[in-house]
Amino acid sequence: MRQTLADKVVWITGASSGIGRALAAEAARRGATLILSGRNEGALRETASLCAERRRSGAPRRPADAILPFDLADPSARQLAARQALALFGRIDVLMLNAGVSQRARFTETSPEVFDLIMQTNFGAAVDLTRAVLPQMRERNSGMIVCVSSVAGLMGAPWRTAYSASKHAQAGFFSSLRSELFGSGLQISMVYPGFVRTAISENALSGDGGRHGELDPLQKAGQAPSETARIVWDRLEAGALDIRVAFDFKARLGVFLARHFPKLFVRSISRHGGL
Ligand SMILES: NC(=O)c1ccc[n+]([C@@H]2O[C@H](COP(=O)([O-])OP(=O)(O)OC[C@H]3O[C@@H](n4cnc5c(N)ncnc54)[C@H](OP(=O)(O)O)[C@@H]3O)[C@@H](O)[C@H]2O)c1
Repeated sequence: MRQTLADKVVWITGASSGIGRALAAEAARRGATLILSGRNEGALRETASLCAERRRSGAPRRPADAILPFDLADPSARQLAARQALALFGRIDVLMLNAGVSQRARFTETSPEVFDLIMQTNFGAAVDLTRAVLPQMRERNSGMIVCVSSVAGLMGAPWRTAYSASKHAQAGFFSSLRSELFGSGLQISMVYPGFVRTAISENALSGDGGRHGELDPLQKAGQAPSETARIVWDRLEAGALDIRVAFDFKARLGVFLARHFPKLFVRSISRHGGL
């Protein structure tokens, strides 16, 4: 069933940069009203300005977008933010769970605190926000929940034990939830980006929680976020449930080998040092 974004209330996490910012701008262009979340309030304001620019001129007057900064790793902050988000426009039509933090450290060098932080930010928060937003969608028998996983949610990779675990956990959770909600009118979709040109690897955490600070070559050569956003919303509006995007040959080969030739995969990925 085709759903358009026009006049929908869309809550996007991780809207302060990268893919989330591009998803916000593209949703604004398609006529959505946005709730923009992340920790960096200044960057969220910049996203809001970009959204205002992208909105089609002559579009009917709509409520202004809202920014809602909070830390996803803090369980009480996310409970409060979910209540505030629902109160802002009286409903949420689309919950876009895009925020995420990656990792660049071996398991043995990653502190338990950093491991848990990554799991909480990427997975725990996605579950909690879904738990908070789902009841009003169920009452209306309408709504869309989208989770941005990763190629690392389809295969493992060195220096990403927590990241890959969190992304696999998202896939397991949302595909199970999707089966429970079949026939309810709700759409639960997953997005699996391959390589998109963002700061995800620079923002990745080292084993002690410091910022990795280096841009991976695969991200550097990746797809432009605006292109990713256009493809993702096109496919979501068309009702797609599992979306692979920016999935270049390396990503496709890696997922294929991991599934069908695990010995060859592990030899190759350990030699090439990750994704
Ligand atoms: N780029 C790629 O090639 C790629 C590939 C596969 C999957 N992905 C996934 O795509 C999603 C977006 O990543 P990106 O590439 O756009 O990277 P990014 O530019 O680093 O964006 C990450 C976003 O997540 C937010 N975030 C991180 N930790 C947070 C926290 N504790 N609380 C609230 N917000 C937090 C950040 O906002 P603040 O800093 O303002 O908090 C930022 O807006 C992630 O889920 C990532 O795993 C990306």
